[in-house]
Amino acid sequence: QLLDDLDIKAATIVGHSMGGLVALGFALRHPSRTLRVAVLNSVYDRDSASRAAVEARAREIAKRSTVGNVDEPLRRWFGHENADPGIISQVRAWLTSVDPQAYAIAYRIFASSDDAFTGRLGALSVPALFATGALDPNSTPAMARAMASAAPRGQALILDGQRHMMNLVDPAAVNQALGQLLAQPSERIDPRELRAAFGTFMTGVTVVTTRDTTGAPRGFTANSFTSVSLDPPLLLICIGRTAASCTTFTGASGFAVNILAEQQKDISGIFASKRSDKFSAVPWHPASSGNPLIDGAVAWFDCARANVIEAGDHVILVGAVREFAHGDANPLGYARGGYVTLGLEQAAVNAAAQDGRTIVGAILESAGRLVLMPGSAPQTFTLPEAGPTGNVSALKSSLLRAGIDASLGFLFAVFENPQTRTQSIYYRGEAALRDGSPAILVDFDAIPWDRLPDEAIRIMLRRYAQERQQGRFNIYSGDHEQGEVRAVI
Ligand SMILES: Cc1cc2nc3c(=O)[nH]c(=O)nc-3n(C[C@H](O)[C@H](O)[C@H](O)COP(=O)(O)O)c2cc1C
Repeated sequence: QLLDDLDIKAATIVGHSMGGLVALGFALRHPSRTLRVAVLNSVYDRDSASRAAVEARAREIAKRSTVGNVDEPLRRWFGHENADPGIISQVRAWLTSVDPQAYAIAYRIFASSDDAFTGRLGALSVPALFATGALDPNSTPAMARAMASAAPRGQALILDGQRHMMNLVDPAAVNQALGQLLAQPSERIDPRELRAAFGTFMTGVTVVTTRDTTGAPRGFTANSFTSVSLDPPLLLICIGRTAASCTTFTGASGFAVNILAEQQKDISGIFASKRSDKFSAVPWHPASSGNPLIDGAVAWFDCARANVIEAGDHVILVGAVREFAHGDANPLGYARGGYVTLGLEQAAVNAAAQDGRTIVGAILESAGRLVLMPGSAPQTFTLPEAGPTGNVSALKSSLLRAGIDASLGFLFAVFENPQTRTQSIYYRGEAALRDGSPAILVDFDAIPWDRLPDEAIRIMLRRYAQERQQGRFNIYSGDHEQGEVRAVI
């Protein structure tokens, strides 16, 4: 409310002692309004002895009608080392003037709030400073270090010779630490960028299955599969909390993981969808546990639930393998949001390379725009390519000569082009144009189709434009028949 009233979108939140717990609570509850957080002299995950001591104090304070003798807290907070008596008497005056009832309520909350954040700091994505004094007996250095290591961008700072009221006793040191925190870039991690970075790790594709409490089969596509342990045999899979089947999986006594074969891209699509009849669209049979096994999978593992671990917006399901089998088919791959079919890709490239005339070209994007080269006839365009006996290194040299700095990605299409009587192999990629390059950049919705004389290229580009909108690319190969480039799968 305060930030709204002051028209502040997001702020660095600093709290001391119990205020540090408030700051942490704010940062976790309002991540979009928190730039950074500093938690000074705050408790975390007390051991049972100090919890008992603080609870006893809370009970004792609750019985009193006055704040009582404040010598003891002042001694704990300042010690006798280096505090200025003027500051101590100022704090004494504050303490003795508070409403005793409010003090008792606040202390009761304080006594029970140290474990409010245990296990939750992993979700704190902003820079976070956890500072305390080396001599603070209650908000200890060990607690500050534990919080800093639990927070992904956490840092611990322990000030030598300081106690609980270090911000009053040595404000210069505390301000310096806060200044350093403020200097840290606060940008929150962009989830789209993070997803793209995670997506560079090439994986297989699985369908994870189980039965719900009514015995109905449930399943979802997952590439988060990881083999964990041989002895005991363990694997894991992560399921998004927003998946419709999440509670079914976390509550089930077991599940099966099916590793898909490269011809099973459609099955991946079905199980990644929200349709309710996933199992009626796909041939399957039950394992001896009853968990569904997808026919034709390269391998399957039937597991008993070993552990369920909460992890941010996903839940990790650890399974103890009780039965498994595997076959010889090629597994389906997945990287950068697209399927990778290594066996088919290799076969297609080999077939193309056997023929003499080969064009190797690229569909390149620069900041979301398509790179086109001037064609051989005036007023026409083509894709960047190398021929007539092209290969990837010839393509790279021809791109360099044309002033195009390109990084080639996955194969996109392999086909026979009847117009040019060549085998054609096209890769996807990113590019930047150097000054003086004859290449041009066009928006995808303004491609000059009538100036692209090659029909096969037009058809391929139309498919590319369509697939990039869906964010998923397929690989095409085969003959060019009646204006169609056929899908491999
Ligand atoms: C290749 C691929 C991999 C996926 N990997 C995962 C994953 O590891 N964990 C997950 O929760 N969802 C993953 N998904 C998304 C789920 O399959 C999707 O959210 C599905 O709708 C969940 O089914 P449900 O909502 O019916 O439970 C993946 C999707 C695809 C296409």
